[in-house]
Amino acid sequence: MKRALFITFEGGEGTGKSTQTALLAERLRKSGRQVVETREPGGSPDADAIRQLLVSGDTGRWSVTAEILLNYAARESHLRQTIVPGLDSGAIVICDRFADSTRAYQGYAGGGDKDLIEQLDRNIVDDAQPDLTLVFDLDPCIGLERAGVRGGDDRFERKGLDFHNRLRDGYLVVAQTFSDRCSIIDASGTIEQIAASVWQAVEPHLEDTK
Ligand code: TMP
Repeated sequence: MKRALFITFEGGEGTGKSTQTALLAERLRKSGRQVVETREPGGSPDADAIRQLLVSGDTGRWSVTAEILLNYAARESHLRQTIVPGLDSGAIVICDRFADSTRAYQGYAGGGDKDLIEQLDRNIVDDAQPDLTLVFDLDPCIGLERAGVRGGDDRFERKGLDFHNRLRDGYLVVAQTFSDRCSIIDASGTIEQIAASVWQAVEPHLEDTK
């Protein structure tokens, strides 16, 4: 029986998630599947407007609580306008970052209120939880260098190495907490090696979607 599938890609800066999101989407489309490729913060016109507020300006522009609220406001629009309609149409929805980014960036790295995050998650994401989450793990020194080469300069990339070390540890805790849906991907290899790990994690979930 045909079943929709919601896959999220997570990880710190420069881990190669966005490249791998595009490669997976292409491979799935080539196999004849319908795919919706999206990203956070953003993914709907209103959420894209909130993204601009989040990624630009001084590093201290928003309190961590404001960041949590802005991300969940954007997520509410994204779910309603893009993710849920995509899943309802039977597509595989692939999302570059989702709620685990708020858990890791604002909760673990930023020291924000984890209970507030879970309360918002129950209200806003509710039962539209990802079926599979790929957590890209990489030494932040390598990731930040890659992001720098790429020309990245958003508020979060400028937060310093301590923040990014807490972020990596936070993602590993998130992967353990939600181990039923999370797979850790070693992001230190070549693009081809990482793509192979991604496919190994995704393939078992595809049977029901054929
Ligand atoms: P990007 O670089 O993957 O496009 O994401 C933009 C930044 O937003 C990135 O540094 C991570 C950050 N972010 C959060 O801090 N919390 C969130 O909930 C999300 C979705 C992203």
